[in-house]
Amino acid sequence: MSQCNLGEPWRVQMNADIRAEAAAHPEIEVVFKDAQNDTLRQGAQIGEFVNSGVNVLIVSPKEAVPLTPPIAEAYRKGIPVIVLDRKVLGGEFTQFIGADNRVIGRSAGQWIARRMGELPRVKAGGRARVVELKGLMTSTPAQDRDFGFREGIRGAPIDIVFEADMKWLEPASREEMESALAVNDRIDLVYAHNDPGAHGAYLAARAAGRADGIIFVGIDGLPQEGRIYVREGILAATFEYPTGGREAIDSAIRLLHGETVPRVVKLKSRFFTRDNIATGGEWIQ
Ligand code: FRU
Repeated sequence: MSQCNLGEPWRVQMNADIRAEAAAHPEIEVVFKDAQNDTLRQGAQIGEFVNSGVNVLIVSPKEAVPLTPPIAEAYRKGIPVIVLDRKVLGGEFTQFIGADNRVIGRSAGQWIARRMGELPRVKAGGRARVVELKGLMTSTPAQDRDFGFREGIRGAPIDIVFEADMKWLEPASREEMESALAVNDRIDLVYAHNDPGAHGAYLAARAAGRADGIIFVGIDGLPQEGRIYVREGILAATFEYPTGGREAIDSAIRLLHGETVPRVVKLKSRFFTRDNIATGGEWIQ
C-alpha cells in the first residue's frame, strides 16, 4: 500500500480501513509505505514494491502526472494495481476506486448557492462573497471539486472574491485565509476542498475576530473530524469522502483468487449539516 502522506486524519483513516479489512484475511499481509507528501519518494517506493515482488499494489497517488509512469510500469510488469482516491492519467492500472469528486463539488456548490440565497442582502438583490480554498491542483480531486463547484453555483448571485491553492494542508489554508481577510472587508462563506482546509480558514477568521460572520463548508466528513466540526457549529456543512480502504482489500482478495474486477468502483457520498447530522446525513447523487 503506497500512501502519499499520513499528515491528514483522512489518510490515517484510509490506512486504518485497509488494516481492519485485511485483518479478516490472514492469508494476506499488507506492507505500508508513506511517501510523506513527496511525489518523487512515492514514485521510488512504488518501484521498491515492484522489485520486492508484491502480488497486488494499492496506491493513493499524490499527483496525477508524475506518478502515472511508475504506476504504469508496475502494471506492465503484470502486477495488479488498484488506484485509490486520486487518479492518474491513461488506463494502465487494474481498477480505480473513489467517490465522484465532481459530483461532490457540484452538490457543495448547489448547497452553497441555496444557502447564499437566504442572505437578506442577496434577497434584496445583492451578491454573495465567497472564498474558495482549493486542494493541491495537480491532484485530481482538487480539479474536480473546483470544476463541480463552479457548475453548482452557475447562474447564482455569487462572486468568488478570493481563491488559492492550500495544497490540502490546514496551516497553508490558514495563511491563505489571512490574505483573504486582509483584502476583503466582507466574506460570506468559505468553500474549502477538505475539512483541514475549512478548519484552517476558520482559525484565521477566529483570530481576526471575524469567524461569526462567515459560513464554513468542507469536504471529507470523517466522524472524528468534519462531523465534529459540524456538531460544534464550526462548519455549516461537510461532504463525505469515503476512503475506499475496505473496498481496496476486497478487490485485492478477488484479484489474488484470479477473478476479474470492474475497472471503476464508484463510492457513494453523504453530506452532513447541523439539521441532518443527528439522523446520519443525506445521500448525494
Ligand atoms: C488527505 C486529503 C483529503 C482529501 C483527499 C483528496 O490528504 O487531502 O483531505 O479529501 O486527500 O485526495
